Amino acid sequence: MVTLSIIKADTGGFVGHSAVHPDMMSAAQDALSTAVGDRLLLDGKAASCGDDLSLIMTHEHGADAEEVHSFAWDVFLQTTEIAKRLGLYGAGQDLLSDAFSGNLRGMGPGYAELEFTERPSEPVVCFLADKTEPGAWNLPLYKMFADPFNTAGLVIDAKMHAGFQFEVYDLYEEKRIWFDCPRELYEMLMFIGAPARYVIHSVESKTLHEQAVATSTQRLSLIAGKYVGKDDPVMIVRCQSGLPALGEVLEPFAFAYTAGGCMRGSHHAPMMPVSVADAHPARFDGPPRVVALGFQIHEGKLIGPRDLFDDPSFDRVRAQTNEVMDYLRRHGPFEPHRLPLEDLEYTTMAELEKRLAERWQAMPEAAVPAPR
Ligand code: 13P
Ligand code: 13P
Ligand code: MG
Ligand code: MG
Ligand code: MG
Ligand code: MG
Ligand code: MG
Repeated sequence: MVTLSIIKADTGGFVGHSAVHPDMMSAAQDALSTAVGDRLLLDGKAASCGDDLSLIMTHEHGADAEEVHSFAWDVFLQTTEIAKRLGLYGAGQDLLSDAFSGNLRGMGPGYAELEFTERPSEPVVCFLADKTEPGAWNLPLYKMFADPFNTAGLVIDAKMHAGFQFEVYDLYEEKRIWFDCPRELYEMLMFIGAPARYVIHSVESKTLHEQAVATSTQRLSLIAGKYVGKDDPVMIVRCQSGLPALGEVLEPFAFAYTAGGCMRGSHHAPMMPVSVADAHPARFDGPPRVVALGFQIHEGKLIGPRDLFDDPSFDRVRAQTNEVMDYLRRHGPFEPHRLPLEDLEYTTMAELEKRLAERWQAMPEAAVPAPR
């Protein structure tokens, strides 16, 4: 069995929240190469999207392994030091704890990990996003694994016809449920259509009994109890041979769907699929970016990456994203650009309610609906 882990954190932005500094990237890659030399990892690649640094690693320690998580934590401490030395913005932003104990749960970094027996050919896509929340993967995952208008294989591939099981987390109540699709599509949509709360955590093939997807589902604000930056999730998707083909996995991103995030984590904005070179959200700290790094995993090695959205066939969605962004931006502080009050990552509302409490008066009686 091999485990593919993406462990990510924002340990400082260059400039503002727009990118990871090249010195941090090279320190992370050096640490990964050393860990491969020391045989902790089979392979390791540093990658970034916006101000979030991802460690993409293969190893044989399974998910939640102490040695892998503590290695990642140490790398993030090291890149935080670089960020401090250069005066970068929000040095150590996502490191919410002072001391590592066992694994990264509740410590701030996000992670998606998937353990599997390597197939003769093992194509995977590592998706990295910035300026959005973990529920941002719900819509594309639904399309990849449940929508025959996206994924032809659901109709014409005998190994896909039986469908997929979706594991959905309720992040507010810390519960989870499995939906059997297509049988329970409509039930599932009721939940995953509310992505601030319900998040797809994994997907499994009913025919192959193979896990195809792992997402990072940590919500930073639920851990910290206050706004400390957006979650900026990652996701692993295995492709082909009874799973969606590579092109079926990428196709949902040809639509500029909106997600919560962008400026101050508090606005709906469209998801823009971009090449690594363009993964630097700047306009209104957005629009949220997603990169897709394709690998063939062979004998545990990460053959790649291929920068999959570096492709003119995604030019049109990028143009659409800019149009949607223009349209939403003109709403300024109004919904639906600004998130509803309960989803705002930070707010002056509590203070305003207190300060203005005395000034609220009863409405004129004529304006009050008559009792029934
Ligand atoms: P498999 O070879 O993975 O079955 O898929 C066919 C394919 O690549 C179609 O796009
Ligand atoms: P990050 O989570 O990417 O640091 O974004 C923070 C923010 O508030 C951007 O406006
Ligand atoms: Mg940041
Ligand atoms: Mg970020
Ligand atoms: Mg963040
Ligand atoms: Mg082929
Ligand atoms: Mg083929």
